[in-house]
Amino acid sequence: MNLQFTEEQHMMRKMVRDFANKEVAPIVQQMDQEDYFPIELIKQMGDIGLMGIPIPEQYGGSGMDFPSYIIAIHELSKVSASVGVILSVHTSVGTNPILYFGTEEQKQKYIPKLASGEFLGAFALTEPGAGSDAGSLKMKAVREGEEYILNGSKVFITNGEKADTFIVFARTDSNAGNKGVTAFIVERNTSGFEIGKKEHKMGMNGSGTVTLNFDNCRIPAEQRLGEEGEGFKIAMANLNVGRIGIAAQSLGIAEAALEHAVGYAKEREQFGKPIARNQGISFKLADMATSVEAAKLLTYHAANLRHQGIDCGKEASMAKMTASQAAMNVATEAIQVYGGYGYTEDYPVERFFRDAKVCEIYEGTNEIQRVVIGKHVLK
Ligand code: CAA
Repeated sequence: MNLQFTEEQHMMRKMVRDFANKEVAPIVQQMDQEDYFPIELIKQMGDIGLMGIPIPEQYGGSGMDFPSYIIAIHELSKVSASVGVILSVHTSVGTNPILYFGTEEQKQKYIPKLASGEFLGAFALTEPGAGSDAGSLKMKAVREGEEYILNGSKVFITNGEKADTFIVFARTDSNAGNKGVTAFIVERNTSGFEIGKKEHKMGMNGSGTVTLNFDNCRIPAEQRLGEEGEGFKIAMANLNVGRIGIAAQSLGIAEAALEHAVGYAKEREQFGKPIARNQGISFKLADMATSVEAAKLLTYHAANLRHQGIDCGKEASMAKMTASQAAMNVATEAIQVYGGYGYTEDYPVERFFRDAKVCEIYEGTNEIQRVVIGKHVLK
């Protein structure tokens, strides 16, 4: 594996780092404490090409490679994991399903708007009774002439508070298990479709997580994405890519927590010397740095496989699982290094800790990642 970054990738890292420090950092606290969705950033990110990094230029994207996209999520997440997940969900599971499974008309209609940041994308798979067992979803889509009528609800929809388009999965055949699931593109202002309750979460407070309600929501049949019964396959294929994005997001949190802990350990003096000079602390930092490095290698390894067009479902799950565990462990230890100060809102490590937890849960819990990896190993 080659972890040498190209000149273009280095430039992407620098550009995103500068953007994150200049535009994102000043509103991090507002996002976290007021559950504020940073809608103004979407336009700004669109203007500098971040909302469509791996999307081909012919559809208005930046036409850059997949690792560049992962670099952007990694760097944004070091400053704000909420902004990292907004970009990841928008691209990997909000836009890519249309790019890979849409008709030419659907691509022309939606992708330029999504890639420019005019539209924000979301992905609606999870239901109150169907989380890990996504194939058991109950939301119904019944065809009537040239329309489908959607009924049911979706929960925990990232970006949903402000999204313009939703990739929605519903059941068109109640006897066919996961082969009876079909995907649809639903626009925000469709009658019968309403944005419901907004969640008040432990962390990741800027990402606008909501319930969606569909009550006899009629959509034209041409809004169906792929064939009837292809929905589960579409969801899984795009989650494979999405999970590399969540790995990059987790990596950003872990790296930020490590950097803050190192800085603090060198400055904070107790017993007449910086606490970093105690092995109790330096061993902690050594373990944290090792976790970050392992997460980085697996994340960029999965990204490089994806870039080369090699099937990377197993590696994506490994990266997501390892990086999210690293984020959780490193953030926990960072608080320990800060002691009592780490437990207050005066320092960012408690936010890293709260943001890290959901990385072990969304886009497939880490238990589900083990199911996926286990299936590959035993194949
Ligand atoms: N990649 C490609 N194909 C896959 C796949 C994957 N990762 N996982 C399953 N499939 C395919 C299988 O190959 C199989 O195909 P065939 O029928 O052609 O053989 C088909 O899908 C069914 O597979 P299984 O029998 O294994 O399906 P299952 O019902 O047992 O479920 C599962 C498998 C892995 C548990 C799956 O349900 C799953 O991934 N669950 C987690 C759901 C999830 O990740 N939700 C995230 C919600 S979105 C989100 O979180 C976004 C956000 O807000 C940040």
